[in-house]
Amino acid sequence: MKIGIDVIKFYTARYYLEANDLAQSRDVDSGKYFKGLGIKKISVMPPDEDIITMAANAGKEVLRYVDINKVDMLLFATESGVDQSKSSGMWVHKLLNLPETCRVVELKQACYSATAAIRMAFAMVYQNPESKIMVIASDNARYELNSPGEPTQGCGAVAMIISTNPRVLSLQNKAGVYAKDAMDFWRPNYRTEPFVNGGYSIELYLKALSESWKQYSLISGNLFDQHYKFCYHSPFPKMAEKAHAHLFKENNNHEIDKSLLKTEISGSLKYGRIIGNTYTASLYICLISLLENTKENLAGKIIGLYSYGSGCIGEFFSVVIEAGYKEVISAELHDKLLNTRQRVSISQYEAYHNFSDKMVEGNHNIPHYEDGQFRLFGFKDHMRLYEELE
Ligand code: HMG
Repeated sequence: MKIGIDVIKFYTARYYLEANDLAQSRDVDSGKYFKGLGIKKISVMPPDEDIITMAANAGKEVLRYVDINKVDMLLFATESGVDQSKSSGMWVHKLLNLPETCRVVELKQACYSATAAIRMAFAMVYQNPESKIMVIASDNARYELNSPGEPTQGCGAVAMIISTNPRVLSLQNKAGVYAKDAMDFWRPNYRTEPFVNGGYSIELYLKALSESWKQYSLISGNLFDQHYKFCYHSPFPKMAEKAHAHLFKENNNHEIDKSLLKTEISGSLKYGRIIGNTYTASLYICLISLLENTKENLAGKIIGLYSYGSGCIGEFFSVVIEAGYKEVISAELHDKLLNTRQRVSISQYEAYHNFSDKMVEGNHNIPHYEDGQFRLFGFKDHMRLYEELE
């Protein structure tokens, strides 16, 4: 029985910051952002957008392709949760009019939780082949202003349906995992931005890659060369390039050629270069980018995927692309979404960044910015208020 991703779409906020503008304002050589980190633009959330509105926008696109009444579970993966108790998925359940018989839960383990959600969905669909599970990964990758992490911000959501007879790809059920308690990146409940040990986080990312790959290749029997392309969790595109060069060298005992590096991963990085980090959505935006920006037919090809979440867990697994995938991907939709965003100035970006729902007490209306189909319009008695736009 084939189980995998039947439909997959993403959404990102309607504003962006040019990396060049940020570099100039922070008195940094723009070469560091463009070449050193591989970033051109980052998506910026206005105050009336959040992980829930982004998730609902991505979810709405997915629901155009499936019978909503068959969706029996929503797994919401995030590390930018808005409530200590209620799952962000409950608001999405309402905004999307999901059936009352659909279970809802939120999952967290830094950037890894979407992969955990997919694993859980796989097991549930295996038990009940009629089941259609919606997995949503939605995050606002936020660092302190003027910090080294600032150019690696971004925001976005990916929604997908996991089911039998998938139209996009089948999941192979052999994965390698490496987990270890570590303090490379963490955000205590009282903070709006994380603490980061940047160099250590890169070291751990690569260590978890080596270890999870070894286990994966051992139990799957798949060799490096059997993977047609690779997708990596991409906190910034250069990290994915470093990761691929690292894995190649471990498997081939010599450095990767630049043009091969480009062939094997550059399609997956096109969207991330102009969106930025999206934490748990990042790997799956890379996957969509690969599917939509690779000219040759990927049907039947094996793609290697590496998911990493600080704290830390790495998982290496693979998927096989299905014959009809081109009929359910949306390159035009996503291109339009990205190319119609409004550019923000540094002062606008800082004002949006400084808006925090932690400052909102009692009743408060939020001005209307450029949005997708859903917006957060205010707070009343500490409750979040959402609306769907015409
Ligand atoms: P930094 O200290 O500002 O930068 O931090 P740097 O000095 O290390 O420079 C970065 C690169 O730019 C270097 O390249 C420089 O040589 C180059 P490398 O040597 O690494 O190949 N460079 C230049 N290149 C061209 N022209 C120039 C120039 N100047 C310098 N003029 C760091 C960088 C990524 C650490 C920082 O941005 C950071 O802390 N980011 C957040 C943490 C992060 O993204 N970690 C990645 C792995 S952990 C992860 O992926 C999990 C995560 O997504 C969270 C989660 O799981 O929830 C973050």
